[in-house]
Amino acid sequence: MTAIYRVYTTMEKHDTYVTPDYAWKNIKNYIPSDAVIWEAFYAPGGESGQILTDMGYEVIHKPYPQYDFFQYEPEHYTHIISNPPFSKSKQVLERLKQLNKPFIMIMPSAKLCTGYFRHIFQDSEDPIQIIIPRKRIHFKKLVNGEPVKDWKPACCFDCFYYCYKMNLPRDIVWLTDKECVEMKKKGNHKCNRETKSSS
Ligand SMILES: C[S@@+](CC[C@H](N)C(=O)[O-])C[C@H]1O[C@@H](n2cnc3c(N)ncnc32)[C@H](O)[C@@H]1O
Repeated sequence: MTAIYRVYTTMEKHDTYVTPDYAWKNIKNYIPSDAVIWEAFYAPGGESGQILTDMGYEVIHKPYPQYDFFQYEPEHYTHIISNPPFSKSKQVLERLKQLNKPFIMIMPSAKLCTGYFRHIFQDSEDPIQIIIPRKRIHFKKLVNGEPVKDWKPACCFDCFYYCYKMNLPRDIVWLTDKECVEMKKKGNHKCNRETKSSS
């Protein structure tokens, strides 16, 4: 039992991988300028709320656990845009479908193949649309709201932006070099392995 508890608490901690600013800036073209964004998942020390605010949006981003996604809903918002805890993907997708608001969620590409994703969205009147990043998103790890010393962002899986009711111009949008801020900063997106093998 103790072992199970330990595994569970470790999973909770490992959900605090925060979104780098380029991952939000790269999709600015697909978020209406007058959107009132509920950034529903809060990581202490994370900056996604501030990044989206700096991009010109009105943003609601309230601390967890006081404001739990499964209990709380803001009075007024137009879009839910976030990077949720991946360990709760099924419950998050169920609640998103129930809320029925336009959303963009950054989640692993493999989630698309899960039975629960299929079950929740396969018969949806509004289909899921996908934005595919130009390069892998490398999240920043925080522990107790602080960056981890000597830890380099090197995510080992790809993510999509899963979109619902976002009226994308195509069902699959591949981000272009031109849209991606990190492509202009040479080397910024490289993971550890790429850096080592090229040096
Ligand atoms: C992957 S992090 C991303 C944080 C932030 N959205 C970002 O993009 O940087 C997910 C965070 O969701 C928070 N979280 C977990 N369960 C939650 C819930 N039920 N309601 C709101 N936030 C939750 C955790 O604190 C965790 O740090």
